[in-house]
Amino acid sequence: MFPKNRKPPHKEPLNGATFAKSKNVDLINPDVQAYAEKFSSPEDELLHEIAEYTLHHHADPQMLSGHLQGKFLEMMSCMVRPRRILEIGTFTGYSALCLAKGLEPDGQLHTIELRENDAALAQGYFNRSALRHKIIQHTGSAKEVIPTLNETWDLVFIDADKVSYIEYFELVFPKLRQNGFILADNIFFHGEVLANPAKGKNAKAIQAFNEMILERKDIDKMMVTLRDGLYLIRKL
Ligand SMILES: C[S@@+](CC[C@H](N)C(=O)[O-])C[C@H]1O[C@@H](n2cnc3c(N)ncnc32)[C@H](O)[C@@H]1O
Repeated sequence: MFPKNRKPPHKEPLNGATFAKSKNVDLINPDVQAYAEKFSSPEDELLHEIAEYTLHHHADPQMLSGHLQGKFLEMMSCMVRPRRILEIGTFTGYSALCLAKGLEPDGQLHTIELRENDAALAQGYFNRSALRHKIIQHTGSAKEVIPTLNETWDLVFIDADKVSYIEYFELVFPKLRQNGFILADNIFFHGEVLANPAKGKNAKAIQAFNEMILERKDIDKMMVTLRDGLYLIRKL
């Protein structure tokens, strides 16, 4: 677990372009990304620390939502004012903290992470946040945890293993309130969904998820061309 007061080493300025360079997240022009970040409210101190630590110490830093997407999640949450949020895929806790900012005073965010190390790292950050009492971390497989949660969701963020997106949707949709929202991340899968047929099981799975969402008549939907793409879905 990340020690409480340890400052991560500062190697280079952290922005969208740095993330784009660190791994292959290059759908958006890095200069446009940096410009958009400059003209958006900055990350708070804790989020910035999580982002820096993740970039410099985690093997998969590209998984982090990051500044702009995090701000988008926060804004969405502030618009919805949810009482119950479900996040599938905690990673280092960045997006959970962003989403939790819009919770109603009696609201709760449940977040699920398979990997114990990441769950522990995220919990360490949650413990340092003023929102800690509103965040409930579950460690384990989302397919096992979701059915144990007896809640009605106002907002769901799907951001775990791509091959399970359809299953996650089917598990949460019956428990999503009418006019509730689902956000699903990485729906362009680094642009690989544009190939027909797509190569690789993840790109194929995301293609199938996108097709399924398009066909459903009981939801309103739009693709948000932010970072690696977000499907924004509203239950009718
Ligand atoms: C893209 S990362 C999440 C990023 C995070 N939401 C953020 O924006 O900072 C995906 C996470 O899902 C977790 N994951 C993968 N399969 C899972 C499963 N079956 N159940 C729960 N979590 C899973 C991974 O370990 C990883 O930490």
